[in-house]
Amino acid sequence: MHTPKPIIIGHRGAAGEAPENTLASFVLALSQGAQAIELDVHITKDGEIVVCHDGTLDRTTNGSGLICDKPWAVIQKLDAGAWFSEKFRGERIPLLSEVFDVVPKGTLINVEVKHAYEGRMEKALLAFFREVNRYEDVVVSSFDHKVIQRLKRAEPALKVGLLYAANLIDHTGYAKLLEVEVYSLHPHYHSMDETDIASATAAGLAVYPYTVNELSDYQRLTNAGVTGIITDFPGRLKAFLHT
Ligand code: G3P
Ligand code: MG
Repeated sequence: MHTPKPIIIGHRGAAGEAPENTLASFVLALSQGAQAIELDVHITKDGEIVVCHDGTLDRTTNGSGLICDKPWAVIQKLDAGAWFSEKFRGERIPLLSEVFDVVPKGTLINVEVKHAYEGRMEKALLAFFREVNRYEDVVVSSFDHKVIQRLKRAEPALKVGLLYAANLIDHTGYAKLLEVEVYSLHPHYHSMDETDIASATAAGLAVYPYTVNELSDYQRLTNAGVTGIITDFPGRLKAFLHT
């Protein structure tokens, strides 16, 4: 049976070559052939959804402290590029809406929810998704599977995915426990073997392992028939898939 090639999902954009979760990183990922991007979201004190991996500003900006303690007016002034390289000085933490403006329609955006913020994140995301109305282009994932279940119940048009690192006994069976339709599994790339992947895809689940950067792992996962690969190096994965 012919297995389609996995799609290329740029992790935090092209995090291996640009400052993660910045517009420069997403633009680079797309220019390198990514058909999808993965990003992480948090919420500001005044309720804006911003794209950043950590809940704090210290590692990836010239600011410090919790994102949720600061208004957007403060966060938008911070530099989010210079820590990675001088070349990227001037990059900012983007709003989720700014990423949607940059990513063309038809490109999948995997929004990873890092924290529920006592329900504020779900409320903000649902309002945002209703406004942009790009349900085909979006899959929301989280390590917090209760967030995923609540989001799907609140908005059945939304595609949702389960993110996890555990080597589950039955990945497909676990997805059924949520009692809502799960679109995709996002396992750590060591947590699913060939049989697990085959049974998940046979059950209609997309399988998007994270974060895969080595050629030998691209090979193993492609042979096993994963639906997509989340990588810091979309260009490297593109070159692998086309040789
Ligand atoms: O969504 C896949 C991957 O990004 C999950 O881990 O820590 O890189 O957000 P992390
Ligand atoms: Mg992530």
